[in-house]
Amino acid sequence: MAITFTLSTQPADKVRADVLAVPMFAGARPGPGAEAVEAALSGGLRRFVEEAGFTGKPDETLVVPTPARAAASAAVLVGLGDPKSVPTDRLRRAAAAVARSASHARSFVTTLLAAAPDLDPGAAAQALAEGFALGSYRFLTYKTDGERSKLARVVVASPGGAAARDGLARGKTVAEAVSWARDMVNEPSGAKSPAEFAAAARRLLAGTGVTVTVMSEAQLRAQKMGGVLGVGQGSVRPPRFVRAAYTPRGTTKRGTLALVGKGVVFDSGGLSLKTSSGMETMKTDMSGAAAVLAAMSALKALGVRNKVVAYTPMVENMPSGSAIRPGDVLRMRSGTTVEVLNTDAEGRLILADALSLAASERADAIVDLATLTGACVVALGEKVAGVMGNREAWVDQVRAAAVRAGEPLWPLPLPAEYRKLLESEVADVRNISTGSYGGALTAGLFLERFVDDVPWAHLDIAGPARAGSDDGELTKGGTGFGVRSLLELATSFEPPAKPATRQRAKAAKKRR
Ligand code: BES
Ligand code: MN
Ligand code: ZN
Repeated sequence: MAITFTLSTQPADKVRADVLAVPMFAGARPGPGAEAVEAALSGGLRRFVEEAGFTGKPDETLVVPTPARAAASAAVLVGLGDPKSVPTDRLRRAAAAVARSASHARSFVTTLLAAAPDLDPGAAAQALAEGFALGSYRFLTYKTDGERSKLARVVVASPGGAAARDGLARGKTVAEAVSWARDMVNEPSGAKSPAEFAAAARRLLAGTGVTVTVMSEAQLRAQKMGGVLGVGQGSVRPPRFVRAAYTPRGTTKRGTLALVGKGVVFDSGGLSLKTSSGMETMKTDMSGAAAVLAAMSALKALGVRNKVVAYTPMVENMPSGSAIRPGDVLRMRSGTTVEVLNTDAEGRLILADALSLAASERADAIVDLATLTGACVVALGEKVAGVMGNREAWVDQVRAAAVRAGEPLWPLPLPAEYRKLLESEVADVRNISTGSYGGALTAGLFLERFVDDVPWAHLDIAGPARAGSDDGELTKGGTGFGVRSLLELATSFEPPAKPATRQRAKAAKKRR
């Protein structure tokens, strides 16, 4: 349900709402707004909290009745930990915890914004809105008796200011984009063929200032997208490729940002078949594309002032009589030939075509998002994405955006020494390493071959695209990881400096 966020200068206990949400600090120290709860308990807050074992550490919540004293009939205390520094991420998590703890509430009033006076009010308000909206997210399409969240209104009691009000609006926009990505990821593969996924993207982007082109199989052939066609050829549901372009009104010369997303609607592994348990979560393998398209839908609302173009190949990776075989050679859009020794390393094959298209359309910088390797999950766990790239300054820009968005990324290298692990006997390159280790890096090195000399960053989101359990603003299942970072990045995009002409000439020569 769409939630309305408003700012109110009224004291929180005078605002009509189902639940009053009040921050508490470590050692169960009352935060701003706790006076209202204290009054409702006739001064018994300290004892109540102690007996409940509530300590005020981050993520902790405690529901307190507020008989007839405050305008709200219940209060939720939410822990924020150390009051000296409350980071934006902790506010977002706290808002999500509040939404979950009073899951039947239709409306909240909260004093959480006042608990972090040192933060930028816009960023803090945005995080609050994201927390409430994302924490109350549920995927109920297939639940017969599923209960929809009733949350319709959140009032932030605060002295106010345009910055906080704008922040709430931004948070709502961002959270709606993230929720679309979650919905798409959570949708079973049977109901999201490449064609259906592309159609959903079209519906999402209608009226958002984005021009959408969906390439059919015939158009993919005309474009010589051998990677997309090769991976898609084993499925009865043919591949698609969505190109979506956002061009802001009235501005030019701010550069073009290209977003590339892996859209494997189901990854069985192909003839290099996965195990049953390995397949269980493979409806998630289109999370990169979902995040990219979701981000596109919010650019206009966020007032993004540079051009942004999305490239999302959509395929189903299936074993069949028409499937690609280990040992087959594909000629990619760029002309590079690839020996496919493992059909389960399919993501890089479809991304190669998308990256080369983005590069040839003269993007100033590229970011790709892909649930690319189990190896990245081994390296960084389920919560942290890996980031690799060919320009340190561009990777740094992406990392800074992710920090502001509160999505954990960590850099991994692309060692030139490992390039030889991808040398093929018969083709220009093989799609898997000849070695057993460093799989996230060799996948990154494979992709690097297809971006020419365009500044490029690759996010391996195989871990954080899914959450095994509710955690802060994340809900079990698809997380929509990356949407927030992409939107931060698009909003603040600075085209990376062009390399020296000599280098460009060299790179161009290599391409020929
Ligand atoms: N989609 C998978 C990667 C993946 C694994 C995502 C686990 C999320 C959780 C990808 O297509 C894949 O199968 N990668 C292989 C590559 C290998 C064959 C070189 C992998 O990681 O095992
Ligand atoms: Mn695979
Ligand atoms: Zn895959």
